[in-house]
Amino acid sequence: MRKVLVTGGTGYIGSHTTVELQAAGYEVVIVDDLSNSAVDILDNIQKITGKRPVFEQFNLVDAAKTDDFFGRHRDIAATIHFAASKAVGESVEKPLHYYRNNLVSLMNIIDAQLKYGIPNIVFSSSCTVYGQPDRLPVTESTPRKDAESPYGNTKRVNEDILRDSIHAFPDRLRAIALRYFNPIGAHPSALIGETPAGTPQNLVPFITQTAAGLREELKVFGDDYDTPDGSAIRDYINVVDLAKAHVVAINRLLNNKNKTGFEVFNLGTGNGYSVLQLINSFEKVTGLKLNYRIVGRRAGDIEKIWADTSLANNELGWKAEKSVEETLLSAWNWEKHLRGIA
Ligand code: UD1
Repeated sequence: MRKVLVTGGTGYIGSHTTVELQAAGYEVVIVDDLSNSAVDILDNIQKITGKRPVFEQFNLVDAAKTDDFFGRHRDIAATIHFAASKAVGESVEKPLHYYRNNLVSLMNIIDAQLKYGIPNIVFSSSCTVYGQPDRLPVTESTPRKDAESPYGNTKRVNEDILRDSIHAFPDRLRAIALRYFNPIGAHPSALIGETPAGTPQNLVPFITQTAAGLREELKVFGDDYDTPDGSAIRDYINVVDLAKAHVVAINRLLNNKNKTGFEVFNLGTGNGYSVLQLINSFEKVTGLKLNYRIVGRRAGDIEKIWADTSLANNELGWKAEKSVEETLLSAWNWEKHLRGIA
């Protein structure tokens, strides 16, 4: 059985990807420092798949520990690198923490993989690298723009670190960067999902926490954008669909199907939904009334973005399958599971 390292594997996207990798027959080793996740998620992964991933707790910023880890797991075939700090606002307050945590960890992984002869990396990137694109939908060749935040910049720079390292070591390293649009929802079992620490910054956890009574009201940031209903538009993608794309990317690298050493794919649905449309869909599928209020725009937000998914569809043979309604219902089921709501 081929072994895949999933860094950040107890986190939101990492846990869903671990489940899909195991379902596809891979053995998963997780490294996570548990700074933004809990170790008991391993129990729930095991409940879903019947298999418990191997787990080691440390921060990959520690070069000695990273080297020691790879030295003990020389049979790892590929790494999926999720582990990173990801709060946009916090990154503005703590830029050095974000640059150190997100950049140094990737560099340590690359160093160790070169040393131990492990060529394959899938990197967790973001559509944030496009900023507000001049033309929509965005393709992979849409120019990247200056990042709005240190967090966003770490995604851009990490893509460059991979590209330049592969340029320097074309026979020893190759990578696929996956640029996620807005991942939402939870596993249909409601055993794993998103658990934001503190007040959620992202829309869907805020919606479900408001519906569950944890938050008094949802603030809709802006209704004066140049969009049909005035609220901002994003491409919301189901987290299980997203997780499956990682399995496809790993298969592609391990079967030598990649066309160049460094490939980039957009992962979205190709459809844009406004904040108000998402709220309406949530109300419709759950039958609940959401207490929301329109307020001013949030600093740093872009107006609208959605993906051109042709490359992922045609080249990876992957397509987002789940509807936004089904996805919102899965997010609500997960929130209910967390809060013990029947
Ligand atoms: C944000 C980050 C992005 C990151 C992603 C990770 C910014 C500018 N971008 O994406 O870099 O990769 O999270 O998940 O922060 N909204 C409300 N009320 C709320 C929360 C959000 O109206 O309480 C709106 C936002 O203004 C936005 C939409 O909902 O229009 C989606 O917001 P969010 O879920 O935070 O994602 P992004 O901002 O798109």
